[in-house]
Amino acid sequence: MNDCTIVLLGASGDLAKRKIIPALYRLIERGILKKFLLIGAALDSISSDQMLQQAEEFIGDINNVVWEKLQKSSFYLTFNFTNAADYTALQQQTHEYEKQHGMSGNRIIYVAAASQFFCEITRYLAASGLAQRLDTKEKIWHRLVYEKPFGHDLPSAQEINRCIEKSFFEQQIYRIDHFLSKELVSNIALLRFTNIFFEPLWNNRYIDNVQIFLNEKIGIEGRGAYYDQYGALADVMQNHMLEMLALIAMESPATLLGDDVRTARAELLAQVNFADGILGQYEGYQAEHAVSPDSKTETFAAVVLTVNNKRWQGVPFYLETGKKLAEKQTGIYITFKEVDCLLTKQCPSQPNSLTIQIAPKQFFSLQVNAKKVGSFAAVEPVQMEFCHNNIALLAYETLLEAIYKADQSVAVRFDEIEYSWKIIDAIKSADLPLYRYKPESHGPQELKTFTRMHKIREQK
Ligand code: BG6
Repeated sequence: MNDCTIVLLGASGDLAKRKIIPALYRLIERGILKKFLLIGAALDSISSDQMLQQAEEFIGDINNVVWEKLQKSSFYLTFNFTNAADYTALQQQTHEYEKQHGMSGNRIIYVAAASQFFCEITRYLAASGLAQRLDTKEKIWHRLVYEKPFGHDLPSAQEINRCIEKSFFEQQIYRIDHFLSKELVSNIALLRFTNIFFEPLWNNRYIDNVQIFLNEKIGIEGRGAYYDQYGALADVMQNHMLEMLALIAMESPATLLGDDVRTARAELLAQVNFADGILGQYEGYQAEHAVSPDSKTETFAAVVLTVNNKRWQGVPFYLETGKKLAEKQTGIYITFKEVDCLLTKQCPSQPNSLTIQIAPKQFFSLQVNAKKVGSFAAVEPVQMEFCHNNIALLAYETLLEAIYKADQSVAVRFDEIEYSWKIIDAIKSADLPLYRYKPESHGPQELKTFTRMHKIREQK
């Protein structure tokens, strides 16, 4: 496989230490990244050792041989991404390191920065030659990675995209969403389309409702400056949650590969409408570091969406997310319609359901009704469960490996982003009520009335 230089902009930040550097470590450990350089760049004056040390606690057990390999190939430069001269210096230095280490010049430029800087950063990257416009016929490749959220609404996303497309080819651009690289999420389409019994039932005749949760125990973890400008809707619903919804509800793609799946997801997102919702903010949020004391930013959102096509007419899609809740729960719950009861007594107590749980445990499970052991005709729900006990891969590891191998299926196409911003913009313009909730609760008290009104069965 090719050698590769990873230029990490934002290398002293939260994402770099928690996710990106640990993922690189794992790729080295697995022998995927053999010949590489990591060039970190950020505003802080730290050394490359300090950059790596910050990530140590997120790696877990460290193998000294792998660590040394990472250390020997890592460099760090203090860098201000609003300063043109710094890009020229970074380009010269990168080129120098590449020459010294006999690298061919393949590069992944990872932009771990807030999206309001994407356009400016991209222009400087192009002008300095740090990233070049290269098509697939060229001997070397340069790929650019942009973190989510891509923009903060539809117009800003469109502006950023126009700006990036001026300098680079689409096949060089990776607008990423790490949820698409989670094992259970990338399994959704396979589960749906490789099992004969799901597709005939996958419609409004047999499915009663779909619920998608991304609930977290953690708060904003020192990310106030970012979070207060975005909130739950833009932070996770516009991307992770709507991508999960798209995978659950899309029509069958021509193949289960890259662009076919992206087309099916985009077509589905174009048909999603907002029906109703409520927002929440945890008590104490306004006192968090870098959060405005009268902030109205939502840290909790529950919405009902509908999909305007024949398959899903009348089926509510309930999406719920929040910070500082009682428990971490990320998953998709599909509830089927109840069957007519043919027994004289003790009908099935619960409808069939399919659970795809992403966190804290990773499994999928089908709930069916069975005879209670030892009874004559009593029915009880039982779970047919497949548990992913041994998933060792981190989402960011899968993601970086795919980028390295030029697999764009882990990235989101711009039309998907446009449709999902349209949905979020519609939710925001509905001026939903914002309720307070206690940390470690299940969200605002008003949620109960809301879910009852929309006949959403409790999953907690
Ligand atoms: C990120 C959000 O994209 O996803 C965070 O910015 C959130 O606020 C995180 O905590 C959740 O992802 P995971 O993989 O930790 O469940």
